[in-house]
Amino acid sequence: MTATLLDGKALAATIEASLRDEVDAVTTASGRPPRLVVVLVGDVAASASYVTAKARAAARVGIDAEVVRAPGSADTAALVGLVRGIARGDQGAVDGILVQLPLPRQVDTTAVLDAVPADLDVDGFHPENAGLLSQGRPRFIPCTAAGVQRLLVDAGIPTAGRRAVIVGRSDIVGKPLALLLASRGRGGDATVTLCHSHTQDLAEHCRSADILVAAVGQPGLITADMVRPGATVIDVGINRVEGSEGSRLVGDVDFAAVSAVAGAITPVPGGVGPLTVAMLLANTLLAAELRIGRR
Ligand code: GUN
Repeated sequence: MTATLLDGKALAATIEASLRDEVDAVTTASGRPPRLVVVLVGDVAASASYVTAKARAAARVGIDAEVVRAPGSADTAALVGLVRGIARGDQGAVDGILVQLPLPRQVDTTAVLDAVPADLDVDGFHPENAGLLSQGRPRFIPCTAAGVQRLLVDAGIPTAGRRAVIVGRSDIVGKPLALLLASRGRGGDATVTLCHSHTQDLAEHCRSADILVAAVGQPGLITADMVRPGATVIDVGINRVEGSEGSRLVGDVDFAAVSAVAGAITPVPGGVGPLTVAMLLANTLLAAELRIGRR
């Protein structure tokens, strides 16, 4: 079998197009465009390129995005102060704040993320937003998890009653995605298994999956023998590896081998990544709508 490619890039473009009119409407209603501030700490090339992609996508749909940079030597107190200032409006009106992760080692990431007020938390990382999601009444859903669910729904891949196996229990992807796929309704109602570094018989769990999601950050983690023929494989990993022809991006899935077994598969790049960005735009629009009482 050769798997169907799940084209996240194309879907992201469709989502962007559908956001544009509503962004215009909010801009007219509130007298200014929705505004997103992205905090980028240090000069890690991958983070800088993700942030650039987010800012460019925002501009395409009419969202005003600003990148605020802080030095890689910044400590927790400085970053908490920076985020609080942005939230207060020191750098102009704001609807959404995103702190690009990972932060440098010396920084207490939780303390910095907690400084983002829940109503500006377009990443969906604040405990209030995580709690609302866990109770089945989501407000801001973490962007990658929302993107994976959207991709499944758009591709017509059923989730109700299906076995979904997620490898990776991060607060950013694995945990919120487990909640989403297990929640009631469209794109949910799945039977979810959340695997992690202490899981025994990982391959066996993976082989039971109708929908297998890899979100670990380990190239080659998912091999063909771990995939049930016809299963849907979603690769959330983005890893830079050095090859004979320079460096390239790969996911957590051995794409060449697994695409011969799976029924459908996301490529890396061009799979989940663009959807993460599209969902961030949707969350920023939602934040602006909530602010002016349109939602
Ligand atoms: N780094 C990798 N993924 C993400 C994400 O979804 N949000 C933020 N803020 N940082 C990330």
